[in-house]
Amino acid sequence: MNNPSQQYTWDGVFSEPVSYIVKRYTASVHFDKRMWRQDIRASIAHARMLARQGILSENDLADIERGMALVEAEIESGRFEWSLDFEDVHLNIEKRLTALVGEAGKRLHTGRSRNDQVATDIRLYLRDGIDCLLDLLKLFQEALVTLAEREAATPMPGFTHLQVAQPVTFGHHMLAYFEMFWRDSERLRDCRRRVNRLPLGAAALAGTTYPIDRESVAVELGFEAVCENSLDAVSDRDFAIEFSAAAALCMTHISRLSEELVLWMNPQVGFIRIADRFCTGSSIMPQKKNPDVPELARGKTGRVNGNLMALLTLMKGQPLAYNKDNQEDKEPLFDTLDTLTDTLAIFADMMGTGITVVAYRMKEALHAGFATATDLADYLVKRGMPFRDAHAVVGSVVKFADKQGVDLPDLTLPQLKEFSPLIDEDVFFALTVTGSLAARNHIGGTAPEQVNAAIDRARKRLGAE
Ligand code: ARG
Repeated sequence: MNNPSQQYTWDGVFSEPVSYIVKRYTASVHFDKRMWRQDIRASIAHARMLARQGILSENDLADIERGMALVEAEIESGRFEWSLDFEDVHLNIEKRLTALVGEAGKRLHTGRSRNDQVATDIRLYLRDGIDCLLDLLKLFQEALVTLAEREAATPMPGFTHLQVAQPVTFGHHMLAYFEMFWRDSERLRDCRRRVNRLPLGAAALAGTTYPIDRESVAVELGFEAVCENSLDAVSDRDFAIEFSAAAALCMTHISRLSEELVLWMNPQVGFIRIADRFCTGSSIMPQKKNPDVPELARGKTGRVNGNLMALLTLMKGQPLAYNKDNQEDKEPLFDTLDTLTDTLAIFADMMGTGITVVAYRMKEALHAGFATATDLADYLVKRGMPFRDAHAVVGSVVKFADKQGVDLPDLTLPQLKEFSPLIDEDVFFALTVTGSLAARNHIGGTAPEQVNAAIDRARKRLGAE
């Protein structure tokens, strides 16, 4: 029965309006309205399919397309009035469409439900978000490669346990991050394939009684295929969880890099300077310049990791099929998308143009940590000493040098010979940073020659994407 006083979508069966606080509690329009473009796109594709299948008249389709263009213009210009009364982005747009074009607007929801509608919108939104992230990741990786190339032969101490371990080049260190972010982009690309499936047609949960053609909607919306099972299509959010996990890993990598940037910028370390436009000052200490960007990125990793946990927890207790719990998927997902997008954009710029390497400080640090001790052991091994014995001999050499307050290459040949007669004049090249770096000359090693080859390969990989 058509009740002319019907104000809300489901007033038919209800005998009193929902209380204001419940309306506010259950509404999602204030955060899901950002999916309006996807909602309109999907609705038009749905309406076109209905018309192709003879479920909707050509006139109704024309009205819907005309109306949606008006709705789009209203939203774009900020004139659209979003209303809590219509709960979410889907009902807000449908109500406005109906107000603008009448009957046809009321026919749009034929053969679909908000359950498959929202699942479609999120997938479209996330797909766009992933594409944007992939572009940014590429820029960021290009920045890392450019920085690596500039500093391909710049020696710095490599650390284990945050103690000076062996010399590496700054370029090699940057390429380590390139590899992490490369895997992050692989994960995003892989996850995109599973995001890119069409739920529409699942309707509320069981499919629909109309002779729909889901494949054609999938093609129109650029989906790789349709979701195979209607119950699964409307209920599972594993694609969002998977994305959040990939994003959390990516932020975790950014956080590791951030930790190093903060450390390196500390004046007591002084390996790098970060351009002023990425730093802020203190309101009380006039001398302060703080690496706020990496600190904040490190901090924001917490919320992105938390968003992953929120989505996993959201899903774990849900019986099939759709439950309103799923409305809670959007804020964590959007927050992760926003956070990672901004972070990558800033880091691409900062690593590309905002980092100055202070080579002499890294050299000083190298000479204070017996960084070439392993090279001395390797030298003895190459002259026939078993590695374990060489390890012990070099331990004594280091102890001696430490007592003298000098680095290994500063010892004299007679002093060194005291420890092993195998040592000759040519040991001094092995003990230099240059010799140490050059000796690690195999794929994945830190020799500048290898770093340059790795840069070439990295560029090729980026180009072939
Ligand atoms: N706003 C809802 C969401 O985000 C849309 C689907 C609502 N479906 C329902 N049966 N109440 O999930």
